[in-house]
Amino acid sequence: MMDITQVFERISIHIRPMCSLDVERVVQIDRLSFSLPWSERTYRLELTENSAAHLFVAEVDDQLKQPIVGYVGFWFLVDEAHISTLAVHPEYRVRGIGRRLLEEALIEASRLGADLVTLEVRESNEGPIDLYEKFGFQVKARKARYYRDNHEDALLMILKDLPGWREKCLEG
Ligand SMILES: CC(C)(COP(=O)(O)OP(=O)(O)OC[C@H]1O[C@@H](n2cnc3c(N)ncnc32)[C@H](O)[C@@H]1OP(=O)(O)O)[C@@H](O)C(=O)NCCC(=O)NCCS
Repeated sequence: MMDITQVFERISIHIRPMCSLDVERVVQIDRLSFSLPWSERTYRLELTENSAAHLFVAEVDDQLKQPIVGYVGFWFLVDEAHISTLAVHPEYRVRGIGRRLLEEALIEASRLGADLVTLEVRESNEGPIDLYEKFGFQVKARKARYYRDNHEDALLMILKDLPGWREKCLEG
């Protein structure tokens, strides 16, 4: 059987806007990633009815049958973006794809004119919190018992100066 790690070393990641043909695979990854996944209908509505929604998928260029390995979404309103979703298929995690997806979302939000970016994350979800802190997000508030499955608190994180982040990103 093909070793997925060996395959990964030879493949490149491509990020592009999500389309309706991607939804089935995205929903599969969502179910593997969240205890409260979005439904297929929600993704379809986000793509077709929600003009504030911006969604991207990460594809790997290899021989595998399922090129989509992750996705990110945000809502953009006036001068703020809110990260609505971010996930990478479990077999492809900790290889830099989440970082690439978040970077792409922030670049697009900045291009649209966002000044700040917010998101919510489970307080126990240390991997993503680490990722967000590396991008300059800071914990702004705690939403008590926010998640309806286990009543866990959410941390509201904020990236205050998106234009400043963008400048640093271009320098780097
Ligand atoms: C969050 C998620 C998208 C990260 O994707 P990923 O491709 O594994 O992340 P990356 O490989 O790009 O990691 C980037 C950074 O995130 C942090 N990170 C990611 N996964 C981590 C883990 N399991 N443990 C600790 N830190 C982790 C690290 O700081 C890492 O930086 P490093 O590579 O310098 O160590 C992925 O873990 C996931 O899909 N989780 C389930 C869904 C979820 O919780 N989404 C967030 C909702 S708020």
